[in-house]
Amino acid sequence: MTDMFAYNYLMESDQETLRLKLKTDRATLEKQAKWAGIKPGMRVADIGCGAGKTTFYLKKLIEPGGEIVGIDNSKIRIKDANHNFKSDSIHFLCKNACNSLDDIGEFDFIWVRFLLEYHRLTSFEIVRNLTKILKPGGIICLIDLDHNCLNHFEAPEALIRSLAGLMNELETNKNFDPYAGRKLYSYLYDLNFENIDVDLYAHHLFYGELNQSNIFNWITKAEVAAKQSGYDFNEFKGGFNEFYEVFKEFFLNPRRFTYTPVITCRGRKSLNGSPG
Ligand SMILES: C[S@@+](CC[C@H](N)C(=O)[O-])C[C@H]1O[C@@H](n2cnc3c(N)ncnc32)[C@H](O)[C@@H]1O
Repeated sequence: MTDMFAYNYLMESDQETLRLKLKTDRATLEKQAKWAGIKPGMRVADIGCGAGKTTFYLKKLIEPGGEIVGIDNSKIRIKDANHNFKSDSIHFLCKNACNSLDDIGEFDFIWVRFLLEYHRLTSFEIVRNLTKILKPGGIICLIDLDHNCLNHFEAPEALIRSLAGLMNELETNKNFDPYAGRKLYSYLYDLNFENIDVDLYAHHLFYGELNQSNIFNWITKAEVAAKQSGYDFNEFKGGFNEFYEVFKEFFLNPRRFTYTPVITCRGRKSLNGSPG
């Protein structure tokens, strides 16, 4: 499979390793993984594992026994993950999930959270690729946001228009998918997965004062994604700089109401054949 954008991760910046570490919430991850069917003793792949914090937390859910392999195509984050979390049963590999992964064996459980949204054009092909390294009867769990960064009240009109324009630009020119979440069910359906289950809830639900981690995550998101987008922000005379100031003022105001739905989708590969 080819993905011309695969090496241009939209959120790449000096801050990305830190951002991923700070925003990973252990309780949420454990709830999602248990819902999907993770169990002690499983061999697990964490695809797009970032700095390895998710891999480390998932490992706790497969003890006693169990083995986990974290895959990410960022050398920096894999180095960080190896430094902090590597052990006899936690391995990290720098690999591109768009390419063949046939050399890393088969898995009982494959975890893919917040990865497909960066691959709008090839997300289905990535899931098909991962299906090849899932054992018969194994579980895949796909998790992504939906209507990403588009739900804010009561934001100034120019800010609403610029956010819509920005997301459209990312969708068109950067292979980003603000609607990744709603597509996950169809992927597992089309690949003939069994026992498919779906859940939907708020990943972000912001009203009142925010904690420092959410402020850092969102201000960094706005800055990095907006700058890398190439969008001209012509809703504002001052272009990006004015957009950024107006966004911060809105976002830091405790009257603001912002939410993002997350969609979780899991399915089981049939025992008697390979889906797809
Ligand atoms: C938003 S982070 C998600 C981290 C983690 N899964 C989580 O739930 O917090 C996306 C990660 O996917 C990685 N990534 C993006 N495209 C990839 C690809 N084609 N193959 C492997 N990793 C990829 C990025 O380097 C980044 O670390």
